[in-house]
Amino acid sequence: CAVRRYQFNVMMKTTTRLCSSKSIVTVNGKFPGPTIYAREDDTVLIRVINRVKYNVSIHWHGIRQLRTGWADGPAYITQCPIQPGHSYVYNFTVTGQRGTLLWHAHILWLRATLHGALVILPKIGVPYPFPKPDHERVVVLAEWWKSDTEAVINEALKSGLAPNVSDAHTINGHPGPASNCSTTGGFSLNVSPGKTYMLRLINAALNEELFFKIAGHKLTVVEVDATYVKPFKIDTVLIAPGQTTNVIVSADQGAGKYMVAASPFMDTPVVAVDNMTATATLHYSGTLANSPTTFTSPPPRNATPVANSFVNSLRSLNSNNFPATVPQKVDHSLLFAVGLGINPCPSCKAGNGSRVVASVNNVTFVMPTTALLQAHVFNIKGVFTADFPGNPPTPFNYTGAPPSNLATTSGTKVYRLAYNSTVQVVLQDTGIIAPENHPVHLHGFNFFAVGRGLGNFNPKTDPQNFNLVDPVERNTIGVPSGGWVAIRFRADNPGVWFMHCHLEVHTTWGLKMAFLVDNGKGPNESILPPPNDLPKC
Ligand code: C2O
Repeated sequence: CAVRRYQFNVMMKTTTRLCSSKSIVTVNGKFPGPTIYAREDDTVLIRVINRVKYNVSIHWHGIRQLRTGWADGPAYITQCPIQPGHSYVYNFTVTGQRGTLLWHAHILWLRATLHGALVILPKIGVPYPFPKPDHERVVVLAEWWKSDTEAVINEALKSGLAPNVSDAHTINGHPGPASNCSTTGGFSLNVSPGKTYMLRLINAALNEELFFKIAGHKLTVVEVDATYVKPFKIDTVLIAPGQTTNVIVSADQGAGKYMVAASPFMDTPVVAVDNMTATATLHYSGTLANSPTTFTSPPPRNATPVANSFVNSLRSLNSNNFPATVPQKVDHSLLFAVGLGINPCPSCKAGNGSRVVASVNNVTFVMPTTALLQAHVFNIKGVFTADFPGNPPTPFNYTGAPPSNLATTSGTKVYRLAYNSTVQVVLQDTGIIAPENHPVHLHGFNFFAVGRGLGNFNPKTDPQNFNLVDPVERNTIGVPSGGWVAIRFRADNPGVWFMHCHLEVHTTWGLKMAFLVDNGKGPNESILPPPNDLPKC
C-alpha cells in the first residue's frame, strides 16, 4: 500500500454561473474541487492550507477513520477549525473500504462550493464484484446560489426563518442548457458506442435530495456509499446530500445525444425547493453536431413511488468476499425522534418572536466552542454532558397532530457507548411542523438499514420484519417523511462521532447529536494520540 499526498489550497475564485459572477471559496480554484484517488489500505495525507478569511475544516465523508477521529473534520466536534493563514494535515488510512465517497467543508455553509469526489479503488489485483466497466467517470451534483451562501445562512439565522433556496442545481459544476445561461452548454458525458461506463454519482448539494436519470438508458446500480449492493436495473436513482451511488451505463443506443437530468425530490408540499432541473448531455462519438437531444422528463418533485422503488431495491451484496456483518443482537436500543420545532426568539425580526429549530429527542444541539474530541481526550470539563436521552422525553404520536408545546431544550449532549457494543437506532420522523425526509449521516461508522416503515415505529411488531441478512450498508440514510428507519452498527471506533441530518439547513437548526465511544482495553482499541499540528480554538 502507498502513501498518497495532496495539497488543498483553500482560496477564493471568481466564478460565473447563471449569467452572473461571484467570488467563491474553492480548493485549488476548482468547482467542484479536485478528486482524491486512493486504494484500499493506502494512507492519505492532505495538507489543507487556509488562504481565505473564513475558518475552514474538511470532512472525508464516509471514511471510517478507525482510531483517527482527529482527521474526521467536523468543526468543534473532532477539531477546532483551521484559522485563516494556518494549515493542517489530515492523515488517515483507508481500511476495509472501496468505492465512491466525497469530501466537503464541515463548517457553516462552506460546503456549498467546497466539495469534491473521493474515489477509493480496490487493492491491486482485487476485481470489482461485477463486470469491469470500460470507463469510469465522476459525476458531482450540487446547488448554486447567485448570492453569497454565507449571507443566505446568516440572514436566515437572524430572522429565524427558512433560508432562500438555491437558484440552480448543477452537474459537475454546471446547471446545463436548461438554465438558458450556461456558457458551456453544460457537462458532456462523451461515450463510444458499445462501451460500458461506471458513473460515480455524488450528491454534494446542501439541502436537496435529487433524482438522476438519463434519457433512453437504464442504470445498473452496483454500489452505494462505498459498499457493494446486489446489482439491479432502474430508470431513476434517488440520491440524498452526502450519499454516493455507482451505476453502470451501457452505451447501447444509436448514436445521438441524450439528456442527463438531476431534479429535486421533496414530498412535503409546504417546503420550498429549487425546482430547476440541472441537465447534462450523454454524447455518443460520431454524432452529428446538429443532431437533436433525446429528451427525458424528470419525475415530479413529489414522486414518492419513484423514490421508494429505488430505496426498496437496495440490498447488500453479502457475498463471501463482502459479507454483511449485521449485528444480530443489540446492546443499546435507541429511539431518536428527529424533526423540526419552534422556539421563542425575542430578537428574531421576521419570525414574530419565534424561530424554527430542529432537534433529536427534543434536544436542539448547541455547538461547543472547544472540539468535543479534545474535551473528551484531554478531560476538559464543562464542554459537554453525557446525558443525551436514548428515547424521546415524552412519547407522542409522532406522525399525528403535533403536541401543544413545540419548544425544545438546548444543550451539548452526547450519548456514550461502550467500545464494541452493538447499537440499534430507530430514527423516527416527527410531523411537528411538517413531516419531511431527513437524510441522516453518521460519522465514523457504516450502518445497516434493517427496517423502514411509515407511521409510528412499533417496537413489538416492526422488528419481526427486520432484514438481518442482507440489508443495505450505508453512512447516510433517508428517514422517510412521516415514517421511520432502523439502523444497526457496532461501536468499534473509539472517539466522538457526529450524527446529523445532511440537509445543511436542518443541521444549522440543531438536528444533530454525537456519540462518544470509549476506548477498548486491547492494544489497538484506543484512539491514537492527536497530531502535533491539530488546530487550536
Ligand atoms: Cu457529510 Cu457531518 O457530514
